[in-house]
Amino acid sequence: MIKEFKNWISTNLESQKGKTVIITGANSGIGFYTALGLAKLGANVIVAGRNKERIDEALKAIEKENITGSVSAGIIDLASLNSVREFANEFNNTHTKLDILINNAGVMMPPESKTAEGFELQFGINFLGHFLLTNLLYNKLKSTQNSRVVTLSSIAHRGASIDFENLRVEKPYDTKREYYQSKLADLVFALELGRRCESNDDDILSVACHPGFTKTELQRHINPEILKKMTFMDTWQGSLPTLLAATNKDAKSGDYYGPDGEGEYDGFPALGVIDKSALDQEVAKKLWEVGIKNTKLN
Ligand SMILES: NC(=O)c1ccc[n+]([C@@H]2O[C@H](COP(=O)([O-])OP(=O)(O)OC[C@H]3O[C@@H](n4cnc5c(N)ncnc54)[C@H](OP(=O)(O)O)[C@@H]3O)[C@@H](O)[C@H]2O)c1
Repeated sequence: MIKEFKNWISTNLESQKGKTVIITGANSGIGFYTALGLAKLGANVIVAGRNKERIDEALKAIEKENITGSVSAGIIDLASLNSVREFANEFNNTHTKLDILINNAGVMMPPESKTAEGFELQFGINFLGHFLLTNLLYNKLKSTQNSRVVTLSSIAHRGASIDFENLRVEKPYDTKREYYQSKLADLVFALELGRRCESNDDDILSVACHPGFTKTELQRHINPEILKKMTFMDTWQGSLPTLLAATNKDAKSGDYYGPDGEGEYDGFPALGVIDKSALDQEVAKKLWEVGIKNTKLN
């Protein structure tokens, strides 16, 4: 295990012994290091992803490390609401508790494409699939003491907006605008979930985070010439805001962790700045209603 990663974890985070954790998109990138970190701290982590071979490789790599918890595979394709339902049903039927759900999986700026249900791919995977997953696991989270949901947003939420008339590529596709929209939706969702848990008096925290600029496979659709001119943190470091959001005992619903450097592009985790675009409660209410209607939760 990378020495700095191991040192940071052992210095800054507490034991997570016996906790049950689900991380979506944990076979690579930030999710992988989050799974490794939490398994190292004693948690039993379900590495959830869409590709069984890639998940098995990740499990092997994590098991080679000196972990005190465990890792196991979960199959979920967030681009299919049926797959999300199957995963959640299976989990609910086989587990008695869920301490931490980490909504991490994501895609960025792919060519124009849609989910199984016809939503723009980034909105569908990054937000809608996780919206359904969280709601289907809600009762399990509620019956687990001190549970929490961590949702990955991005610096890209700043100044973005949600165009409710363009969730199924009704308008000419703009890959960047649609990514920004999806990550704003993630943050709006995390904040609204926190408010709803509080007003229902449910013992679930909703904490958001972002990894600044971190080198991962997320950039697979970006022109390599553009990538060469950018500076990224190592993947392990990009996982630290998620690890803190998932474990910090002092965290509150509505907190948003990101790197502490200028502009929050890099650094070590601290509370970040939430853009006013994410604080509009009318938009949050509408997004929730759209989520409920389109995932057939009502
Ligand atoms: N890296 C950054 O600088 C950065 C910045 C801001 C926010 N983020 C956010 O951080 C999160 C993690 O991304 P990353 O940077 O670690 O990228 P990554 O290495 O590409 O990881 C993304 C993960 O999501 C999974 N995934 C994609 N589509 C899926 C689907 N339909 N169903 C299930 N899983 C799916 C991928 O699985 P496959 O391996 O099968 O593709 C992969 O495991 C994302 O939410 C991203 O938006 C990252």
